[in-house]
Amino acid sequence: MSAKNGREHWGSKTAFILAAAGSAVGLGNIWKFPYIAHHNGGGKFVLIYLICIAIVGLPLLVAEMMVGRATQKSPVAAIEELSGKGSLWTSMGYLGVIASFVVLSFYIVVAGWVMHYIVLAANNAFEGMKPEQFGQTFGDLYVSPGLNLLWATLFMLITYLIVQGGIKGGIEKTTNLLMPGLFVLLIMILIWCVNLPNNAFNEALNYLFMGKEEIEGAAVLEALGHSFFTLSLGMGAMLTYGSYLDSKVDIFKAGMWVAVLDTIIALIASIIIMSIMFANTESNFGGGPGLLFVKFPQALVQMPGGYYVTLFFFVLVFFAALTSAISLLEVAVAFLIDKGWNRKVATNVMTISIWVVGIPSALSASAAWKEIFGDITMFDIAGKTSFFDKMDYLASNWMLPIGGLMIALYVGYALSHQLRAEQFHMGMSRKAAAHFRPWVFFTRFVAPLVIILIILIEAGVVQKDSVNKFFDGLLSHKASAVSELSN
Ligand code: PHE
Repeated sequence: MSAKNGREHWGSKTAFILAAAGSAVGLGNIWKFPYIAHHNGGGKFVLIYLICIAIVGLPLLVAEMMVGRATQKSPVAAIEELSGKGSLWTSMGYLGVIASFVVLSFYIVVAGWVMHYIVLAANNAFEGMKPEQFGQTFGDLYVSPGLNLLWATLFMLITYLIVQGGIKGGIEKTTNLLMPGLFVLLIMILIWCVNLPNNAFNEALNYLFMGKEEIEGAAVLEALGHSFFTLSLGMGAMLTYGSYLDSKVDIFKAGMWVAVLDTIIALIASIIIMSIMFANTESNFGGGPGLLFVKFPQALVQMPGGYYVTLFFFVLVFFAALTSAISLLEVAVAFLIDKGWNRKVATNVMTISIWVVGIPSALSASAAWKEIFGDITMFDIAGKTSFFDKMDYLASNWMLPIGGLMIALYVGYALSHQLRAEQFHMGMSRKAAAHFRPWVFFTRFVAPLVIILIILIEAGVVQKDSVNKFFDGLLSHKASAVSELSN
């Protein structure tokens, strides 16, 4: 395709897949997934998560890339081109830009902690620490306004420098270097885990894949919410990256690659973290988010090679966070570029704005902030008290699912069948692919229904209990069928 509007394009198919996988693989995979998988008992939760990725995530990933490539524009401009300027669908594009602010504002805080831990690990600061000192170290960082602000600012600055370089010169160059690096580090650590004591590696595999039989309604919610977050869906990131694609790429195949890489990396990260915890006979994984920053380095410190594993692991988390953050910033920047701004100015303006919005996330745990603003409990959202938790909750549980629902309905119903078919088959040697109709079916019916159900549960219209009962019913049905068969 000739470069429409003189738009920049990815250098190759692989470059696009690495960039999109870079967006998908992030803190969600390495910081969040292992603890929610553990907390929900592995096994059935992991299965439900995989199903969510396959029946909701993948179809929507393709849908987003399709709209981007068809228009060669970022979300707002893309919908304006396809449906007209006054179309209500453009709200989906604006929601995406707002979501990029919300997600980045807490992303830069966690990524900042990761950078702080790289420095600690490199200086061998964990050596000789008493157990309670690990919690203390993280606690001190968590409430320190200075450190949080410093690291979050530094991380934002690095993200800025990359995005300012443009698609080929900035984003592609970075993701083509960091993604293979991340993968190599991950595999090295995985191999190291195979020989850990206490049969830990096998136990981790067992826990992750065979874990608990029963499943709770809340777990289904968490699995679906996370599948949006982890695939960078529902806010136009994949749409924006798709807008730099040319006609030579088979977007379904590319989407498959991204979903598979994202899933494999989340699973490997979980196996690594669980193996290390089990090797240390640690079954208490702590209160969730702190797992990576407290229990994990604590478990590693006495192990031979622990110094390098801790260091390499935090470096790879940093790579993952950075390649995601650039896609988040790119959504906001591309919005302004498509309004006629030049990249430099657009990147300057958006970086500063997002950084300002991120300040409360960076400071909200500090004593000074609490003194001035209280715990902001008056805006208490679903029991989340800190500003930081609120942002995470708002984005993962509301903004991304709503954005995802809109893109499913838009591509499923508002787009012409001809455009869908043309985009789906572009870059393929076949004229009519067998998986085209199933993809349309999942985009039109399955994905919207599942998301609506989840939103209703989240809004309290449908009780979690009834979802529990539904699953219990299914399971007892299965159990009685099995016992009948075996009689
Ligand atoms: N997918 C990223 C992760 O797993 C987060 C993200 C969400 C990035 C939305 C871009 C857009 O951490």
